[in-house]
Amino acid sequence: MTDTFRLSELAALLSAAGFVAAEDEAAELIGRAAGDAELLDTLIRRRLTGEPLAWITGRTSFAGVAVRVDPGVYVPRWQSVPLAHRAGARLPVTGTAIDLCTGAGALARTLSRCRPGARVVATDIDPRAVACAVANGVEAYWGDLFAPLGRALKEPVDVVVGVVPYVPTSALALLARDTLAFEGPLSYDGGPDGTSILRRVLAESPHYLRKGGALLLEVGGEQADALGDDLARLGYREVNVLTDEDGDVRGIEATWGRSRPE
Ligand SMILES: C[S@@+](CC[C@H](N)C(=O)[O-])C[C@H]1O[C@@H](n2cnc3c(N)ncnc32)[C@H](O)[C@@H]1O
Repeated sequence: MTDTFRLSELAALLSAAGFVAAEDEAAELIGRAAGDAELLDTLIRRRLTGEPLAWITGRTSFAGVAVRVDPGVYVPRWQSVPLAHRAGARLPVTGTAIDLCTGAGALARTLSRCRPGARVVATDIDPRAVACAVANGVEAYWGDLFAPLGRALKEPVDVVVGVVPYVPTSALALLARDTLAFEGPLSYDGGPDGTSILRRVLAESPHYLRKGGALLLEVGGEQADALGDDLARLGYREVNVLTDEDGDVRGIEATWGRSRPE
């Protein structure tokens, strides 16, 4: 059986099973099997259960760079790339950034790529994510939000960025079936209205950000509006709501520290 025949056959199988990018996926699975027919059968079987392709191939692409993704670790989404680039733009060339809830470390790596002279530290509460991020070359620490950074950071930082869990608990059931079955609620559950962790990040970031430093968070739906009062009360200014090309809200960007009174 030639690779070409196998590719079309596998693409047809995946397409019939409902996978939208069937041909690309077929090529990736065949590439991962590297000619081992038994392994290819195992990989196909895994994919047909809905297991993320990135867990099966062990990698995905984020902002044009290959990122290792271990089984159990959230698969970085292309929708988060603009937030990562925006955070990179706010990071001085020799500055310091924190990537909260780093997962595989995709955002941290993008920041380091934008600013090779900067220091980027990251945290995640899932030890599998921390191990994966470290394998991706990220200075990652295990623990809750900022908690592990006490000893790692001596000075206030320039940027805090995060794709933290922000799906309202009641909406978890609306996620694609495979998403929740495999990646699990730890990556998604943001509490009753989805903003529980976001609000904690807003409240804790001023302890780590320098005055004039930037906070950038991925948010969904109405959450940018819902966070407005907290942002003002906590002393953030220049709050920008980040939208995608369809006009959908994707994130917030804010500067910490009130400007001097005139
Ligand atoms: C939506 S995923 C995003 C991962 C990564 N930022 C990305 O975009 O690829 C959320 C991540 O937050 C982590 N997490 C959940 N609660 C956390 C907490 N309290 N402190 C640190 N990490 C947490 C999960 O383990 C998961 O890796």
